[in-house]
Amino acid sequence: MPNISKTAPLPVIGENANPCVMVIFGATGDLTKRKLFPALYNLAKSHLLSREFAIVCTSRTEMTTEAFREQITQDIKTFATTEVEPDLWEWFLKRIYYVAGDVKDPNCYQRLKELIEQADREHRTHGNYFYYLATSPDFFGEIVRQLNAIGLMTEEKDQWRRVIIEKPFGHDLESARALNAELRECLDERQIYRIDHYLGKETVQNILVFRFGNGIFEPIWNRRYIDNIQITAAETVGVEKRGGYYDTSGALRDMVPNHLFQLVSLTAMEPPTSFDANAVRDEQSKVLHAIQPIPPEDVLTRAVRGQYGEGELNGERVPGYRQEPNVAPNSTTETFVALKLMIDNWRWAGVPFYLRTGKRLPKRVTEVAIQFKSAPLTLFRETPVERLRTNRLVIHIQPDEGISLRFGAKIPGPIMRLGAVEMDFNYVDYFGEVPSTGYERLLYDCMTGDATLFQRADMVEAGWSVIEPVLDVWKALPPRSFPNYAAGTWGPKEADELLKDDGREWRPIDQ
Ligand code: BG6
Repeated sequence: MPNISKTAPLPVIGENANPCVMVIFGATGDLTKRKLFPALYNLAKSHLLSREFAIVCTSRTEMTTEAFREQITQDIKTFATTEVEPDLWEWFLKRIYYVAGDVKDPNCYQRLKELIEQADREHRTHGNYFYYLATSPDFFGEIVRQLNAIGLMTEEKDQWRRVIIEKPFGHDLESARALNAELRECLDERQIYRIDHYLGKETVQNILVFRFGNGIFEPIWNRRYIDNIQITAAETVGVEKRGGYYDTSGALRDMVPNHLFQLVSLTAMEPPTSFDANAVRDEQSKVLHAIQPIPPEDVLTRAVRGQYGEGELNGERVPGYRQEPNVAPNSTTETFVALKLMIDNWRWAGVPFYLRTGKRLPKRVTEVAIQFKSAPLTLFRETPVERLRTNRLVIHIQPDEGISLRFGAKIPGPIMRLGAVEMDFNYVDYFGEVPSTGYERLLYDCMTGDATLFQRADMVEAGWSVIEPVLDVWKALPPRSFPNYAAGTWGPKEADELLKDDGREWRPIDQ
């Protein structure tokens, strides 16, 4: 394997986030204990949290602040990604408050307000607040309206108010537009942070650095050199305990307009004029708007849906989707989707972007594979070399984060033979393990007011517009052959045919 010289990791650059109170709605839920507290603790440990900081938590469960602190002290033992230092945890814990309340009850906002103001006084957080809505999406609009009504969204003097909204952001174009309109009645767009946890992943952020921090890739990053791009987000898990939600959503809504479109837009966007939040997002938005809408008559050939039946994964028998808890026994919800998208701009005209994502596939892997065109001529005509393999660059998003480049090399020996070799860069080899939850950067950015890695309203709406025709046609023509792939396989055969019809194939992913 070629040796690439190792450079010292750069020191963490950053200053303590602004003083503020973070208010978590849905604080007894999974997200808070698995991601938010471990991420906040990691920020504290990296000196990236202001000393003037507090967290006010709320949910329906009746509990005192003391009981809540005890609970999260237990939880952090399970979910921390780094060692929990008792002194630092003590410091952290003193900043956490809890109040029970039902978000639909206007009275609970008065109690919440008093507690936020108390936390603000006790920890001198300068009246800056941000709200993390880790609740069911049904309550997003309601919570924002109520907070606004009681004055908790009003920015006075230098104080700021922001709100982080989890996915799903709407369930189609119309509901996303309605939610955006509802939020805008109370908030300015710059106060709204629509989170997509894919953007918290180092490797996803690295797509920008790889493309725009290096001089050698951008000149070949276009239709002249690239044949096609394949984006895969494969999971081995089924729907776990989320059958109730998933059965009303499906793979297309759950993964495509959000996570996969982040990967598409970062891979395909033009270089921004600066790293300013709006400059970056303007370019992402332009690409999303340039995705060719799939005409209804082409939906069934350009969008493939699948649902897993029972099968074998990692040596174990696993049930089919329809046998999962809280899933209708005759469900027609898709657990797999593959799409062929075209981007109508000068850089990408004619280059297909093939996307696929699904549950219960043989391997957990997310990657962007850039498949280059063949060399313009085969110089090795007079030799036993019949066919040149093409170059391929793979951005491994997870697991085994890294980048690899495939190129041809001469196989040693007296006869001219070519082999395909891989040049690999693995994150851990260069930077070591950096244990994180993926939420640190996003929380930090919200506290410092940097919205670059958050979705703007126009981006969310553009994403829904692209998949809207597919949703409509699929709804009108329910699938007849579900389940159509066995758990532990790479999806229905139609997904292979999608590429085969174009004379291509999915990059084989080792199991
Ligand atoms: C979530 C989806 O947004 O992303 C889940 O709702 C999916 O269904 C998850 O499993 C995938 O995230 P990751 O980080 O594991 O790739």
